Amino acid sequence: MATSTAQIQSEFNHPDLKLLISEDQIRDRIRELGSQIARDYAGRNPLLIGVLKGACFFLSDLLRAIDIQLSIEFMAISSYGSSTRTSGEVRILKDLAVAVENRHIIVVEDIVDTGLTLSYLLANLESRGAASVKLVALLDKFERREREVEIDYLGFPIPDHFVVGYGLDHAERFRNLPFIAILMNPEAAQMGLPIGNPS
Ligand code: IMP
Ligand code: MG
Repeated sequence: MATSTAQIQSEFNHPDLKLLISEDQIRDRIRELGSQIARDYAGRNPLLIGVLKGACFFLSDLLRAIDIQLSIEFMAISSYGSSTRTSGEVRILKDLAVAVENRHIIVVEDIVDTGLTLSYLLANLESRGAASVKLVALLDKFERREREVEIDYLGFPIPDHFVVGYGLDHAERFRNLPFIAILMNPEAAQMGLPIGNPS
C-alpha cells in the first residue's frame, strides 16, 4: 500500500484539455479504416510508412485492424516549429531502410494541417518509383490547408484548433493521452515543464 504522501498530478485530466475525440470513437473509426484498407489492398502486400513521432500510435493500432499481409517502415521529417514550415521546404531527418520501387505505399500520418509536409513527402515517395502512394490520416484540419493533399483514408475532419493526444504533442507533451483533446491555451507553452533539461 502507498505510504507516500506525494501527489500524483493527472495528465489526462489537465484543466487546459477539452475532449474532442474519445478513445472509443478512435477505436471504432480505426476498425472501419482497417477493414476498408484490407479490402482495397488484398493481395498487394502494402508498405505502411509511419511519420515519426506522432503517427506511431495511430499506425500501431491501425495495422492491427488490417487483416492482410503488410509491412511497416518509419520516416521522420521536419514539421511544426521549424523555419521550413512557411517555405514549404521539408527536411528528411530519418529515411527509409528499404527501397520502395514497385511497392504499394500507404503513408500513415497523425494530422494534415497546412499540407506542406505531406505534399512534399508524397511527391518524394512517388519519385522513388513506388507502384502507388496513398495517404491515411487520422485527423484533417482542412481549414488551414495551403497545399492540396488528397487524403485517401481519413479518420476525422476537425476544426481549426491545436489538438494533442494519441501521439500528437505540444512541445513533446501530451502524446500519451489515450484520447484527442483541444489544448485550450497553447501559448502558455511549456506550462511549467522543464523541457529540454531532463536532468
Ligand atoms: P503540415 O505540414 O502543416 O500539414 O503539418 C503537419 C504536422 O504538423 C503534423 O504531422 C503535426 O506534427 C503538426 N501539427 C499540425 N497541427 C497540429 C496540432 O493541432 N497538434 C499537434 N501537432 C500538429
Ligand atoms: Mg506528424
